[in-house]
Amino acid sequence: MTLARLDHALETGALTLSEAKRIVLLEPAPDADLGVLGSCDLTVQQNLKHAYDQFEAMGVSVTTDATGPADVVHVTLPRSRELARGLLAQAEAIAPGGLVIVDGAKTDGIDAILKFAKSRISIDAQISKAHGRIFWFNAGTGFQDCALPEPAPRTSGWITQPGVFSADGPDAGSEALVAVLPKSLKGRGADLGGGWGYLTRHLLALPGVTHIDLVEADKRALTCAKQNVADERVAFHWADATTWGTGGTLDWIVMNPPFHTSRTPDASLGQDFIRSAARLLRPKGTLILVANRHLPYETTLSSCFANVAELDGDNRFKVLQADQPKAADKPGRAKRR
Ligand SMILES: C[S@@+](CC[C@H](N)C(=O)[O-])C[C@H]1O[C@@H](n2cnc3c(N)ncnc32)[C@H](O)[C@@H]1O
Repeated sequence: MTLARLDHALETGALTLSEAKRIVLLEPAPDADLGVLGSCDLTVQQNLKHAYDQFEAMGVSVTTDATGPADVVHVTLPRSRELARGLLAQAEAIAPGGLVIVDGAKTDGIDAILKFAKSRISIDAQISKAHGRIFWFNAGTGFQDCALPEPAPRTSGWITQPGVFSADGPDAGSEALVAVLPKSLKGRGADLGGGWGYLTRHLLALPGVTHIDLVEADKRALTCAKQNVADERVAFHWADATTWGTGGTLDWIVMNPPFHTSRTPDASLGQDFIRSAARLLRPKGTLILVANRHLPYETTLSSCFANVAELDGDNRFKVLQADQPKAADKPGRAKRR
């Protein structure tokens, strides 16, 4: 995907980056085409492992924690308001006296962040394009008090951080799954897309569980999980669950798979998680998952497992159990935002 708004701003001459030597991009979409930035020295900050790997494969310098100095910082607006403000604070710190460009979709709240920015600093220019907006300003100290808060206990008592899935407390689907977790699960297992550790902490309470691999793509969520789940039976993996691990090695997998890429509902991501679970499980292994009622997972489950049944459910969620993977499936997934 092109950086359409940035491309437009450069093409029309509204924005020039010709003087820029080093440009940092904070959390661009994994499929962002950086060609528009020409031969500049680029560094990408990425928190999501699959996106990190995609930029690395393109030969771009990529890090989880970009530092300065840079002449220009381009911020791709995330959905979380607090994370967005945190990235503005980081951008200012990386490019003192340089240029900060903020680029986002209307659905991700670009109008609200522009309003917030205008209440603190003076904006050089803004352009509406491609269902969103791009604006830029000279980095000063307008957002110094907006740094992303460190992981901390929320009112729910769980340690989370703005921007992670279900940051305010346990997800209702995960709670529905925990309510019917079979006590019989035993041996080695995994929590795929384990987030900040809610399911893993409940799995540890089952007497037969000896080891859990918590696999999570969001590095900030994984950092929270390490604090929520301090137990030597747990191994934490910053990894893409659709390609992680050695096939045929696990007794069970429990998961609440992701169903969005950015704001777009994407059932194929959950289906890739199911195929990956089938690959990872031993021949007599068990998968337990929760999903929103409308998500079309049954066909994939039936093609990957000998037995599939609904353990519990209501009009919002279904908790499904699948036993005996038919055959290890090759991992594969489309590029996603
Ligand atoms: C629906 S949430 C569930 C989180 C957690 N298990 C819970 O119950 O609260 C799905 C999680 O999968 C993670 N995720 C998304 N894509 C992933 C991928 N390719 N590999 C690993 N984790 C991924 C998301 O960051 C998110 O934390």
